[in-house]
Amino acid sequence: MKLFTKKPIDVILAEGVDESEYALKRGLGPIGLTSLGVGSIIGAGIFVLTGQAAATHAGPAIVLSFILAGVVCALAALCYAELASMIPVAGSAYTYTYATLGEFVAWLIAWDLIIEYLFAASTVSVGWSGYFTGLMEQLGVTIPHALSQAPFTVEQGFHLAPTGALLNVPAVGIIMLMALVLVAGITESANVNNVIVAIKVGVVLLVIGFGFLYVNPANWVPLIPAEVVDPATGAHRYGLPGIFTAAGVIFFAYIGFETVSTAGQECRNPQRNMPIGILAALGICTVLYILMSLVITGLAPYTILNTARPVYAAVDHVGAQLAWLKPVVTVGATVGLASTILTLLYGQSRIFYAMSRDGLLPPMFSAVNRNRRTPWLGTLLTAAFAALLGGLFPIGLLGELVSMGTLLAFALICGGVIYLRIKEPNLKRTFKTPFIWVVAPLGVLSCLYLVSSLPAATWIRLFVWMAVGLVVYFGYAYHHSRFHEAKKLAAAAPAE
Ligand code: ALA
Repeated sequence: MKLFTKKPIDVILAEGVDESEYALKRGLGPIGLTSLGVGSIIGAGIFVLTGQAAATHAGPAIVLSFILAGVVCALAALCYAELASMIPVAGSAYTYTYATLGEFVAWLIAWDLIIEYLFAASTVSVGWSGYFTGLMEQLGVTIPHALSQAPFTVEQGFHLAPTGALLNVPAVGIIMLMALVLVAGITESANVNNVIVAIKVGVVLLVIGFGFLYVNPANWVPLIPAEVVDPATGAHRYGLPGIFTAAGVIFFAYIGFETVSTAGQECRNPQRNMPIGILAALGICTVLYILMSLVITGLAPYTILNTARPVYAAVDHVGAQLAWLKPVVTVGATVGLASTILTLLYGQSRIFYAMSRDGLLPPMFSAVNRNRRTPWLGTLLTAAFAALLGGLFPIGLLGELVSMGTLLAFALICGGVIYLRIKEPNLKRTFKTPFIWVVAPLGVLSCLYLVSSLPAATWIRLFVWMAVGLVVYFGYAYHHSRFHEAKKLAAAAPAE
Protein backbone atom coordinates (compact mmCIF):
# COMPACT_ATOMS: atom_id res chain seq x y z
CA MET A 1 0.00 0.00 0.00
CA LYS A 2 2.95 2.31 0.68
CA LEU A 3 3.54 2.29 -3.06
CA PHE A 4 0.38 4.31 -3.53
CA THR A 5 1.05 6.90 -0.85
CA LYS A 6 -0.14 10.27 -2.09
CA LYS A 7 1.52 13.56 -1.40
CA PRO A 8 -1.17 15.82 0.07
CA ILE A 9 -2.09 18.72 -2.18
CA ASP A 10 -1.94 21.19 0.73
CA VAL A 11 1.69 20.16 1.39
CA ILE A 12 2.46 20.67 -2.30
CA LEU A 13 0.83 24.07 -2.36
CA ALA A 14 2.68 25.07 0.83
CA GLU A 15 5.97 24.16 -0.86
CA GLY A 16 4.89 26.32 -3.77
CA VAL A 17 4.84 29.42 -1.54
CA ASP A 18 8.08 28.64 0.28
CA GLU A 19 9.95 31.92 0.81
CA SER A 20 12.74 30.67 3.11
CA GLU A 21 16.39 31.35 2.40
CA TYR A 22 16.70 27.88 0.90
CA ALA A 23 13.80 28.48 -1.44
CA LEU A 24 14.39 28.99 -5.15
CA LYS A 25 14.26 32.61 -6.30
CA ARG A 26 11.19 33.98 -8.09
CA GLY A 27 12.85 35.73 -11.01
CA LEU A 28 10.59 35.00 -13.99
CA GLY A 29 7.56 36.85 -15.35
CA PRO A 30 5.35 35.95 -18.35
CA ILE A 31 7.93 37.09 -20.91
CA GLY A 32 10.75 35.25 -19.13
CA LEU A 33 8.63 32.09 -19.03
CA THR A 34 7.71 32.36 -22.71
CA SER A 35 11.37 32.88 -23.50
CA LEU A 36 12.23 29.82 -21.39
CA GLY A 37 9.75 27.80 -23.49
CA VAL A 38 10.98 29.14 -26.85
CA GLY A 39 14.58 28.65 -25.73
CA SER A 40 13.82 25.05 -24.97
CA ILE A 41 11.77 24.34 -28.10
CA ILE A 42 13.79 25.76 -31.00
CA GLY A 43 16.85 23.56 -31.39
CA ALA A 44 18.16 20.48 -33.14
CA GLY A 45 14.67 19.56 -34.32
CA ILE A 46 14.23 22.46 -36.73
CA PHE A 47 17.94 22.92 -37.51
CA VAL A 48 18.79 19.23 -38.06
CA LEU A 49 15.82 16.86 -38.21
CA THR A 50 13.49 18.83 -40.54
CA GLY A 51 15.60 18.30 -43.63
CA GLN A 52 16.25 14.66 -42.87
CA ALA A 53 12.55 13.96 -42.29
CA ALA A 54 11.60 15.78 -45.52
CA ALA A 55 14.22 13.93 -47.56
CA THR A 56 13.51 10.46 -46.26
CA HIS A 57 9.83 10.46 -45.23
CA ALA A 58 7.52 13.26 -46.29
CA GLY A 59 8.99 15.41 -49.06
CA PRO A 60 7.52 18.94 -49.18
CA ALA A 61 4.57 17.56 -47.20
CA ILE A 62 6.82 17.94 -44.15
CA VAL A 63 4.82 21.11 -43.58
CA LEU A 64 1.74 18.92 -43.02
CA SER A 65 3.77 16.81 -40.56
CA PHE A 66 4.62 20.00 -38.66
CA ILE A 67 0.95 20.99 -38.53
CA LEU A 68 0.01 17.50 -37.33
CA ALA A 69 2.68 17.33 -34.63
CA GLY A 70 1.81 20.91 -33.63
CA VAL A 71 -1.82 19.93 -33.07
CA VAL A 72 -0.80 16.93 -30.93
CA CYS A 73 1.46 19.17 -28.85
CA ALA A 74 -1.28 21.79 -28.53
CA LEU A 75 -3.58 19.16 -26.99
CA ALA A 76 -0.89 18.23 -24.46
CA ALA A 77 0.01 21.89 -23.84
CA LEU A 78 -3.59 22.76 -22.95
CA CYS A 79 -3.59 19.94 -20.40
CA TYR A 80 -0.18 20.95 -19.04
CA ALA A 81 -1.45 24.53 -18.68
CA GLU A 82 -4.36 23.43 -16.48
CA LEU A 83 -2.15 21.28 -14.24
CA ALA A 84 0.49 24.00 -13.99
CA SER A 85 -2.13 26.56 -12.96
CA MET A 86 -3.40 24.16 -10.31
CA ILE A 87 -0.16 22.77 -8.88
CA PRO A 88 2.53 25.38 -9.54
CA VAL A 89 5.64 23.66 -8.13
CA ALA A 90 9.02 22.61 -9.51
CA GLY A 91 8.26 18.92 -10.06
CA SER A 92 5.82 19.33 -12.98
CA ALA A 93 4.27 16.04 -14.12
CA TYR A 94 6.05 14.14 -11.34
CA THR A 95 4.39 16.23 -8.62
CA TYR A 96 0.97 16.19 -10.32
CA THR A 97 1.11 12.40 -10.35
CA TYR A 98 2.35 12.14 -6.76
CA ALA A 99 -0.74 14.02 -5.68
CA THR A 100 -3.15 11.95 -7.73
CA LEU A 101 -1.96 8.45 -8.54
CA GLY A 102 0.54 8.02 -5.74
CA GLU A 103 4.24 7.59 -5.26
CA PHE A 104 5.01 4.57 -7.40
CA VAL A 105 3.38 5.93 -10.55
CA ALA A 106 4.96 9.33 -9.82
CA TRP A 107 8.34 7.63 -9.66
CA LEU A 108 7.76 5.91 -13.00
CA ILE A 109 6.77 9.24 -14.57
CA ALA A 110 9.80 10.94 -13.06
CA TRP A 111 12.04 8.23 -14.46
CA ASP A 112 10.39 8.71 -17.84
CA LEU A 113 10.87 12.50 -17.55
CA ILE A 114 14.62 11.92 -17.26
CA ILE A 115 14.41 10.76 -20.86
CA GLU A 116 12.39 13.84 -21.81
CA TYR A 117 14.78 16.38 -20.30
CA LEU A 118 18.19 14.89 -19.53
CA PHE A 119 18.43 12.62 -22.59
CA ALA A 120 17.06 15.47 -24.73
CA ALA A 121 19.83 17.76 -23.49
CA SER A 122 22.35 15.07 -24.51
CA THR A 123 20.69 14.70 -27.92
CA VAL A 124 20.86 18.42 -28.62
CA SER A 125 24.49 18.52 -27.45
CA VAL A 126 25.36 16.04 -30.20
CA GLY A 127 23.53 18.25 -32.75
CA TRP A 128 25.39 21.26 -31.36
CA SER A 129 28.70 19.44 -31.74
CA GLY A 130 27.95 18.94 -35.47
CA TYR A 131 27.27 22.65 -36.08
CA PHE A 132 30.20 23.72 -33.89
CA THR A 133 32.65 21.41 -35.66
CA GLY A 134 31.41 22.80 -39.02
CA LEU A 135 31.83 26.37 -37.78
CA MET A 136 35.37 25.67 -36.59
CA GLU A 137 36.17 24.08 -39.94
CA GLN A 138 35.02 27.26 -41.71
CA LEU A 139 37.35 29.21 -39.42
CA GLY A 140 40.23 26.92 -40.40
CA VAL A 141 40.32 24.82 -37.20
CA THR A 142 39.82 21.09 -37.69
CA ILE A 143 38.62 19.14 -34.67
CA PRO A 144 39.81 15.52 -35.16
CA HIS A 145 37.13 12.90 -35.85
CA ALA A 146 38.22 10.95 -32.75
CA LEU A 147 37.33 13.91 -30.54
CA SER A 148 34.13 15.15 -32.23
CA GLN A 149 32.14 11.95 -32.87
CA ALA A 150 30.37 9.39 -30.73
CA PRO A 151 32.54 6.33 -29.97
CA PHE A 152 29.50 4.12 -30.53
CA THR A 153 27.04 3.71 -33.37
CA VAL A 154 23.94 1.56 -33.68
CA GLU A 155 23.94 -1.40 -36.04
CA GLN A 156 20.92 -3.44 -37.16
CA GLY A 157 18.66 -1.39 -34.97
CA PHE A 158 20.01 -2.61 -31.67
CA HIS A 159 23.71 -3.47 -31.44
CA LEU A 160 26.24 -0.89 -30.40
CA ALA A 161 29.41 -0.97 -32.48
CA PRO A 162 32.60 1.08 -31.94
CA THR A 163 33.29 3.87 -34.43
CA GLY A 164 36.95 4.37 -33.61
CA ALA A 165 36.25 7.78 -32.05
CA LEU A 166 37.12 8.40 -28.39
CA LEU A 167 34.67 10.99 -27.11
CA ASN A 168 32.44 13.72 -28.49
CA VAL A 169 34.34 16.46 -26.65
CA PRO A 170 32.32 19.48 -27.91
CA ALA A 171 29.09 17.78 -26.74
CA VAL A 172 30.55 17.26 -23.25
CA GLY A 173 31.96 20.79 -23.17
CA ILE A 174 28.74 22.62 -24.06
CA ILE A 175 26.74 20.72 -21.43
CA MET A 176 29.21 21.55 -18.68
CA LEU A 177 29.33 25.20 -19.78
CA MET A 178 25.54 25.52 -19.67
CA ALA A 179 25.50 23.85 -16.24
CA LEU A 180 27.84 26.54 -14.93
CA VAL A 181 25.48 29.24 -16.24
CA LEU A 182 22.59 27.54 -14.42
CA VAL A 183 24.54 27.33 -11.18
CA ALA A 184 25.27 31.07 -11.41
CA GLY A 185 21.61 31.91 -10.79
CA ILE A 186 18.10 31.97 -12.25
CA THR A 187 18.36 35.65 -13.24
CA GLU A 188 21.74 35.07 -14.92
CA SER A 189 20.41 31.96 -16.70
CA ALA A 190 17.30 33.83 -17.83
CA ASN A 191 19.42 36.68 -19.19
CA VAL A 192 21.69 34.32 -21.15
CA ASN A 193 18.62 32.49 -22.42
CA ASN A 194 16.87 35.72 -23.46
CA VAL A 195 19.86 36.87 -25.49
CA ILE A 196 20.22 33.49 -27.21
CA VAL A 197 16.49 33.26 -27.90
CA ALA A 198 16.59 36.70 -29.53
CA ILE A 199 19.48 35.54 -31.73
CA LYS A 200 17.95 32.25 -32.78
CA VAL A 201 14.47 33.63 -33.40
CA GLY A 202 16.15 36.42 -35.40
CA VAL A 203 17.99 33.88 -37.55
CA VAL A 204 14.81 31.85 -38.11
CA LEU A 205 12.98 35.05 -39.14
CA LEU A 206 15.81 36.00 -41.52
CA VAL A 207 15.69 32.57 -43.17
CA ILE A 208 11.90 32.81 -43.48
CA GLY A 209 11.82 36.44 -44.66
CA PHE A 210 14.67 36.35 -47.18
CA GLY A 211 14.08 32.70 -48.06
CA PHE A 212 10.55 33.37 -49.27
CA LEU A 213 11.99 35.79 -51.86
CA TYR A 214 13.94 32.97 -53.50
CA VAL A 215 11.51 30.07 -53.19
CA ASN A 216 11.07 28.07 -56.38
CA PRO A 217 7.44 26.85 -56.21
CA ALA A 218 8.35 23.94 -58.51
CA ASN A 219 10.13 22.40 -55.48
CA TRP A 220 6.75 22.09 -53.73
CA VAL A 221 5.29 19.98 -56.54
CA PRO A 222 4.12 17.34 -55.91
CA LEU A 223 3.40 18.38 -52.35
CA ILE A 224 2.94 14.76 -51.33
CA PRO A 225 5.37 12.55 -53.31
CA ALA A 226 3.99 9.17 -54.39
CA GLU A 227 4.34 6.45 -51.76
CA VAL A 228 7.20 3.99 -52.28
CA VAL A 229 7.97 0.75 -50.49
CA ASP A 230 11.61 0.13 -49.66
CA PRO A 231 12.31 -3.36 -51.15
CA ALA A 232 15.00 -4.10 -48.54
CA THR A 233 13.10 -3.24 -45.36
CA GLY A 234 9.46 -3.12 -46.51
CA ALA A 235 9.20 0.35 -44.97
CA HIS A 236 6.73 2.80 -46.56
CA ARG A 237 8.10 6.21 -47.50
CA TYR A 238 6.36 9.36 -48.71
CA GLY A 239 2.63 9.42 -49.41
CA LEU A 240 0.29 9.61 -46.43
CA PRO A 241 2.27 7.11 -44.26
CA GLY A 242 5.36 9.25 -44.82
CA ILE A 243 3.59 12.31 -43.41
CA PHE A 244 2.74 10.44 -40.21
CA THR A 245 6.22 8.94 -39.81
CA ALA A 246 7.79 12.35 -40.32
CA ALA A 247 5.41 13.80 -37.72
CA GLY A 248 6.77 11.23 -35.21
CA VAL A 249 10.35 12.23 -36.09
CA ILE A 250 9.93 16.00 -36.02
CA PHE A 251 7.81 15.80 -32.88
CA PHE A 252 11.20 16.20 -31.22
CA ALA A 253 11.31 19.76 -32.55
CA TYR A 254 8.34 20.75 -30.35
CA ILE A 255 9.64 19.27 -27.11
CA GLY A 256 10.40 21.96 -24.56
CA PHE A 257 7.19 23.97 -23.99
CA GLU A 258 6.61 21.82 -20.91
CA THR A 259 9.91 23.07 -19.42
CA VAL A 260 7.87 26.11 -18.40
CA SER A 261 5.88 23.87 -16.05
CA THR A 262 9.03 23.12 -14.01
CA ALA A 263 9.48 26.79 -13.16
CA GLY A 264 6.55 26.96 -10.72
CA GLN A 265 8.77 27.92 -7.80
CA GLU A 266 10.86 30.44 -9.71
CA CYS A 267 8.21 32.62 -11.32
CA ARG A 268 5.92 35.34 -10.08
CA ASN A 269 2.21 34.63 -9.99
CA PRO A 270 2.67 31.10 -11.36
CA GLN A 271 -1.05 30.28 -11.56
CA ARG A 272 -1.51 33.02 -14.13
CA ASN A 273 1.88 33.15 -15.83
CA MET A 274 2.69 29.48 -16.39
CA PRO A 275 -0.30 28.80 -18.68
CA ILE A 276 0.60 31.97 -20.60
CA GLY A 277 4.23 30.85 -20.95
CA ILE A 278 3.37 27.31 -22.06
CA LEU A 279 0.77 28.28 -24.66
CA ALA A 280 2.58 31.37 -25.98
CA ALA A 281 5.87 29.50 -26.46
CA LEU A 282 4.19 26.66 -28.32
CA GLY A 283 2.07 29.02 -30.44
CA ILE A 284 5.07 31.13 -31.52
CA CYS A 285 7.19 28.10 -32.39
CA THR A 286 4.41 26.34 -34.30
CA VAL A 287 3.99 29.33 -36.61
CA LEU A 288 7.78 29.65 -37.08
CA TYR A 289 8.15 25.92 -37.79
CA ILE A 290 5.38 25.84 -40.40
CA LEU A 291 6.87 28.81 -42.23
CA MET A 292 10.43 27.52 -41.90
CA SER A 293 9.57 24.08 -43.30
CA LEU A 294 7.77 25.72 -46.25
CA VAL A 295 10.84 27.86 -46.98
CA ILE A 296 13.41 25.09 -46.68
CA THR A 297 11.53 22.75 -49.01
CA GLY A 298 10.83 25.69 -51.36
CA LEU A 299 14.47 26.76 -51.62
CA ALA A 300 15.86 23.35 -52.57
CA PRO A 301 14.59 19.98 -53.81
CA TYR A 302 13.78 17.93 -50.70
CA THR A 303 16.03 15.12 -51.94
CA ILE A 304 19.20 17.10 -51.10
CA LEU A 305 18.20 17.95 -47.54
CA ASN A 306 19.37 14.75 -45.83
CA THR A 307 22.43 16.35 -44.22
CA ALA A 308 23.57 17.33 -40.72
CA ARG A 309 22.93 21.00 -41.64
CA PRO A 310 19.82 21.04 -43.84
CA VAL A 311 18.93 24.72 -43.28
CA TYR A 312 22.42 25.64 -44.42
CA ALA A 313 22.10 23.26 -47.40
CA ALA A 314 18.79 24.85 -48.47
CA VAL A 315 20.22 28.37 -48.30
CA ASP A 316 23.40 27.24 -50.06
CA HIS A 317 21.32 25.84 -52.94
CA VAL A 318 20.10 29.33 -53.85
CA GLY A 319 23.65 30.45 -54.67
CA ALA A 320 25.23 33.90 -54.58
CA GLN A 321 22.07 35.87 -53.71
CA LEU A 322 21.81 34.26 -50.27
CA ALA A 323 25.52 33.59 -49.67
CA TRP A 324 25.54 36.17 -46.85
CA LEU A 325 22.91 34.15 -44.98
CA LYS A 326 25.01 30.97 -44.73
CA PRO A 327 27.38 32.08 -41.95
CA VAL A 328 24.41 33.67 -40.17
CA VAL A 329 22.64 30.29 -40.17
CA THR A 330 25.73 28.46 -38.90
CA VAL A 331 26.39 30.92 -36.09
CA GLY A 332 22.68 31.22 -35.23
CA ALA A 333 22.24 27.46 -34.97
CA THR A 334 25.41 26.99 -32.94
CA VAL A 335 24.46 29.69 -30.46
CA GLY A 336 20.77 28.75 -30.53
CA LEU A 337 21.20 25.09 -29.66
CA ALA A 338 23.11 26.12 -26.54
CA SER A 339 20.00 27.61 -24.94
CA THR A 340 18.02 24.47 -25.69
CA ILE A 341 20.58 22.55 -23.65
CA LEU A 342 20.50 25.20 -20.92
CA THR A 343 16.73 25.06 -20.50
CA LEU A 344 16.44 21.27 -20.69
CA LEU A 345 19.10 20.89 -17.98
CA TYR A 346 17.17 23.50 -16.00
CA GLY A 347 13.95 21.47 -16.22
CA GLN A 348 15.68 18.25 -15.20
CA SER A 349 17.47 19.76 -12.22
CA ARG A 350 14.17 21.17 -10.91
CA ILE A 351 12.43 17.81 -11.16
CA PHE A 352 15.33 16.18 -9.29
CA TYR A 353 15.06 19.02 -6.74
CA ALA A 354 11.39 18.19 -6.14
CA MET A 355 12.08 14.45 -5.88
CA SER A 356 14.91 15.01 -3.46
CA ARG A 357 12.72 17.20 -1.23
CA ASP A 358 10.26 14.31 -1.13
CA GLY A 359 13.05 11.98 -0.05
CA LEU A 360 13.00 9.93 -3.24
CA LEU A 361 16.50 11.07 -4.25
CA PRO A 362 19.48 11.85 -1.99
CA PRO A 363 19.49 15.31 -0.31
CA MET A 364 22.33 16.59 -2.51
CA PHE A 365 19.83 17.06 -5.35
CA SER A 366 17.94 19.69 -3.33
CA ALA A 367 20.93 21.42 -1.75
CA VAL A 368 20.33 25.08 -2.56
CA ASN A 369 23.25 27.50 -2.55
CA ARG A 370 22.38 30.32 -0.18
CA ASN A 371 23.85 33.09 -2.35
CA ARG A 372 22.89 31.85 -5.76
CA ARG A 373 19.58 30.29 -4.69
CA THR A 374 20.06 27.46 -7.20
CA PRO A 375 20.23 23.69 -6.65
CA TRP A 376 23.89 23.77 -7.60
CA LEU A 377 25.00 20.24 -6.79
CA GLY A 378 21.96 18.66 -8.39
CA THR A 379 22.53 20.75 -11.50
CA LEU A 380 26.17 19.65 -11.78
CA LEU A 381 25.29 15.98 -11.25
CA THR A 382 22.51 16.22 -13.84
CA ALA A 383 24.94 17.80 -16.28
CA ALA A 384 27.62 15.18 -15.64
CA PHE A 385 25.23 12.37 -16.55
CA ALA A 386 23.91 14.24 -19.61
CA ALA A 387 27.50 14.91 -20.73
CA LEU A 388 28.35 11.24 -20.44
CA LEU A 389 25.44 10.29 -22.72
CA GLY A 390 26.13 13.11 -25.18
CA GLY A 391 29.81 12.24 -25.26
CA LEU A 392 29.28 8.55 -26.02
CA PHE A 393 26.14 8.00 -28.10
CA PRO A 394 24.87 9.05 -31.56
CA ILE A 395 22.01 11.51 -32.08
CA GLY A 396 19.58 9.02 -33.67
CA LEU A 397 19.62 6.59 -30.75
CA LEU A 398 19.13 9.34 -28.18
CA GLY A 399 16.54 11.28 -30.20
CA GLU A 400 14.16 8.37 -30.78
CA LEU A 401 14.23 7.49 -27.10
CA VAL A 402 13.49 11.12 -26.23
CA SER A 403 10.48 11.23 -28.57
CA MET A 404 9.08 8.02 -27.10
CA GLY A 405 9.61 9.05 -23.48
CA THR A 406 8.06 12.45 -24.07
CA LEU A 407 5.02 11.13 -25.95
CA LEU A 408 4.30 8.74 -23.09
CA ALA A 409 4.61 11.58 -20.57
CA PHE A 410 2.24 13.74 -22.65
CA ALA A 411 -0.31 10.91 -22.82
CA LEU A 412 -0.16 10.58 -19.03
CA ILE A 413 -0.58 14.33 -18.55
CA CYS A 414 -3.69 14.33 -20.75
CA GLY A 415 -5.05 11.34 -18.79
CA GLY A 416 -4.10 13.00 -15.47
CA VAL A 417 -6.06 16.14 -16.20
CA ILE A 418 -9.24 14.13 -16.77
CA TYR A 419 -8.62 12.13 -13.60
CA LEU A 420 -8.21 15.29 -11.52
CA ARG A 421 -11.36 16.87 -12.99
CA ILE A 422 -13.25 13.83 -11.72
CA LYS A 423 -11.45 13.26 -8.40
CA GLU A 424 -10.73 16.85 -7.37
CA PRO A 425 -13.40 18.95 -9.09
CA ASN A 426 -13.18 21.74 -6.51
CA LEU A 427 -9.46 22.48 -6.66
CA LYS A 428 -8.80 26.02 -7.83
CA ARG A 429 -7.92 26.10 -11.53
CA THR A 430 -6.82 29.48 -12.86
CA PHE A 431 -6.70 27.99 -16.33
CA LYS A 432 -9.15 25.35 -17.51
CA THR A 433 -8.50 23.21 -20.58
CA PRO A 434 -11.26 24.10 -23.05
CA PHE A 435 -13.38 21.21 -24.37
CA ILE A 436 -11.60 18.93 -21.91
CA TRP A 437 -13.66 15.86 -22.82
CA VAL A 438 -12.49 16.14 -26.43
CA VAL A 439 -9.02 17.66 -26.01
CA ALA A 440 -7.65 15.31 -23.34
CA PRO A 441 -8.81 11.94 -24.80
CA LEU A 442 -7.67 13.06 -28.26
CA GLY A 443 -4.33 14.02 -26.70
CA VAL A 444 -3.90 10.55 -25.19
CA LEU A 445 -4.83 8.78 -28.43
CA SER A 446 -2.73 10.95 -30.73
CA CYS A 447 0.37 10.64 -28.52
CA LEU A 448 0.00 6.87 -28.38
CA TYR A 449 -0.45 6.80 -32.16
CA LEU A 450 2.81 8.68 -32.70
CA VAL A 451 4.58 6.37 -30.21
CA SER A 452 3.50 3.42 -32.34
CA SER A 453 5.33 4.89 -35.35
CA LEU A 454 8.71 4.69 -33.56
CA PRO A 455 11.07 1.71 -34.05
CA ALA A 456 10.69 -1.45 -31.94
CA ALA A 457 14.30 -1.22 -30.71
CA THR A 458 13.35 2.02 -28.96
CA TRP A 459 10.71 0.16 -26.96
CA ILE A 460 13.32 -2.30 -25.74
CA ARG A 461 15.62 0.54 -24.67
CA LEU A 462 12.73 2.19 -22.86
CA PHE A 463 11.95 -1.02 -20.97
CA VAL A 464 15.60 -1.43 -19.97
CA TRP A 465 15.64 2.18 -18.72
CA MET A 466 12.42 1.72 -16.76
CA ALA A 467 13.79 -1.52 -15.24
CA VAL A 468 16.81 0.43 -13.98
CA GLY A 469 14.29 2.88 -12.50
CA LEU A 470 12.60 0.09 -10.57
CA VAL A 471 15.91 -1.04 -9.10
CA VAL A 472 16.66 2.52 -7.93
CA TYR A 473 13.15 2.90 -6.51
CA PHE A 474 13.23 -0.27 -4.45
CA GLY A 475 16.92 0.13 -3.63
CA TYR A 476 16.68 3.73 -2.39
CA ALA A 477 13.53 5.80 -2.86
CA TYR A 478 11.09 3.40 -1.22
CA HIS A 479 13.13 3.43 2.00
CA HIS A 480 13.60 7.20 2.15
CA SER A 481 10.20 8.55 1.12
CA ARG A 482 8.98 11.31 3.43
CA PHE A 483 5.34 10.48 2.96
CA HIS A 484 5.13 6.82 3.95
CA GLU A 485 4.18 7.54 7.49
CA ALA A 486 1.50 10.03 8.39
CA LYS A 487 3.55 11.41 11.28
CA LYS A 488 6.24 12.43 8.85
CA LEU A 489 3.85 14.79 7.16
CA ALA A 490 4.49 17.32 9.86
CA ALA A 491 8.13 17.35 8.82
CA ALA A 492 7.10 18.25 5.31
CA ALA A 493 6.68 21.92 6.19
CA PRO A 494 8.22 24.00 3.44
CA ALA A 495 10.95 25.96 5.22
CA GLU A 496 13.80 23.84 6.51
N1 ALA B 1 12.76 20.85 -29.26
C1 ALA B 1 14.13 20.77 -28.93
C2 ALA B 1 14.97 20.66 -30.14
O1 ALA B 1 14.46 20.64 -31.23
C3 ALA B 1 14.40 19.65 -27.98
O2 ALA B 1 16.18 20.62 -30.03
